[in-house]
Amino acid sequence: MPSIEKHADISRSRTGKDYLELHEWMDADPGKKTERHDVKRICEYGQLMKAKYGDEGLEEYVQHIYDDITARYLQGKADIMTAIQSQVAVSDLRTQLAGGEGIACSIGVPDVDLLRRSGMSEEDIAHSIQVAQKAVEIAERTGVSLDMVLVGRGGLFHDLGKAQGRGNDHGVLGAEIGRKLRLPSEIVAIMEKHVKAGMTEEEAVELGLPPKDYSAKTLEEKIVIYADKLVDIVSHPDGIVSSEAEAEGKFPEILERHPKLAKGDRPMRRLIRIHEEIQGLTKALT
Ligand SMILES: [Fe+2]
Ligand SMILES: [Fe+2]
Repeated sequence: MPSIEKHADISRSRTGKDYLELHEWMDADPGKKTERHDVKRICEYGQLMKAKYGDEGLEEYVQHIYDDITARYLQGKADIMTAIQSQVAVSDLRTQLAGGEGIACSIGVPDVDLLRRSGMSEEDIAHSIQVAQKAVEIAERTGVSLDMVLVGRGGLFHDLGKAQGRGNDHGVLGAEIGRKLRLPSEIVAIMEKHVKAGMTEEEAVELGLPPKDYSAKTLEEKIVIYADKLVDIVSHPDGIVSSEAEAEGKFPEILERHPKLAKGDRPMRRLIRIHEEIQGLTKALT
């Protein structure tokens, strides 16, 4: 891994300034070093860096992580796929953080390319982007501190299995692809669990899926499931609602009127429970 001095040299060659204080903050305290390099906390710390050092300092913070990842994986040739995935995540976040206010950590072009390279149709990719955006929007309206990268990327990848099949097994298929791509396990869990709003083991067995409990546990998992259904409602070919606010406001009635959307009684009950839980945390959409 590059030394503090090496990181400072890289910054100097890129910007004319060494950002020594920033690199010392990253590396000098052994008790804090791991969390300050955690890609999952890049949004939180990125905003701090931006407030303290501006856009250029933010870039140098992201570059520091990027250079560490490159040194760790590429020069050590340990695992090229992990390196690529980590770099994709960091590059995405760099782009979004540098973009300023608003949704700092949602989705990025390299992730979309990954969907395309995996064989998803353009129609499914468009749906996935909508779900990612809706999920991040809902997450931002909750008063809860959530992993926004997970919400955005989980939404984006949830239907990756549709590259291989469109049945009830597309969650399981997606999770298999996700593991091969070394996507984070939390994203893989979202992919695996989203079908039928998170099945019990009994339901999974009835459908011939690998026996295990697929029920959604975390709020990030539930938000992606909820966003997926809201996008299905809003983009229904019969134009069943006139706005996103109506889809949220009348969610239970809409599912009861259009049971095909819910894909069964048990999924409908779970969807309504998820709706109630999230609406209890969320400011109403106007
Ligand atoms: Fe799906
Ligand atoms: Fe979907």
